[in-house]
Amino acid sequence: MDFELSQLNAKEAYSLLTSCIVPRPIAWVTTLDENGIFNAAPFSYFTGVSIEPPLTLFAVERRQGEKKDTVINIERTKEFVVNLVTSSNVEQMNITSKDFQVDQDELKLAGLTPVRSKVVSPPSIKESPIHMECKLDQIIEIGSSPHSLVIGEVIQVTVDDDLVEEGKIKMEHLHAVGRMGGKWYTKTEQLFELPRLDWRKADIK
Ligand SMILES: Cc1cc2nc3c(=O)[nH]c(=O)nc-3n(C[C@H](O)[C@H](O)[C@H](O)COP(=O)(O)O)c2cc1C
Repeated sequence: MDFELSQLNAKEAYSLLTSCIVPRPIAWVTTLDENGIFNAAPFSYFTGVSIEPPLTLFAVERRQGEKKDTVINIERTKEFVVNLVTSSNVEQMNITSKDFQVDQDELKLAGLTPVRSKVVSPPSIKESPIHMECKLDQIIEIGSSPHSLVIGEVIQVTVDDDLVEEGKIKMEHLHAVGRMGGKWYTKTEQLFELPRLDWRKADIK
């Protein structure tokens, strides 16, 4: 079947593309509002984009024409934390996708525990085993809807000790969760290896 994107409305195009670009990692982003209240929300338009400097980005659409709280908070504080979504915290992640009132403490409502981050002021989520603390690099507005592309530099990464062996993260113990289309998610329980071919110029082992 062929889909011509110009013939689809925004909802149809979203549904199609988020079913084709799969599985997507989920940035579970924590920020602080102007009253110091924690905000948490998941974003699956998310990836890493460079190493020098180490940049990550996620894209945030408007909600009824208004910027979402995560973007408003990052514009103000220039800081955020990306927490990893795993099989054991995925239900709580989902709760934080709800459109809470700005002054509601989403971590508390989702039964999550904030822990002090190492270098940025927004807290990290204790129930998540990996915290990537980021400083804002830039926000680029794209599209007519529009979307905010939030680009952050990863300054500090904290990984639960039992997930690290000889300085490397034990992939088979992460249980990371990815987002598929619609209501579907996937667990990373069946990992396998492929030989690394000589495609990388840099000597990264
Ligand atoms: C798994 C998942 C992924 C999501 N990804 C995105 C995304 O990439 N961009 C976006 O704008 N909203 C995304 N959402 C919706 C936001 O999480 C939701 O609008 C949230 O309420 C925003 O919170 P905030 O207003 O506190 O920033 C996603 C929701 C879920 C459950």
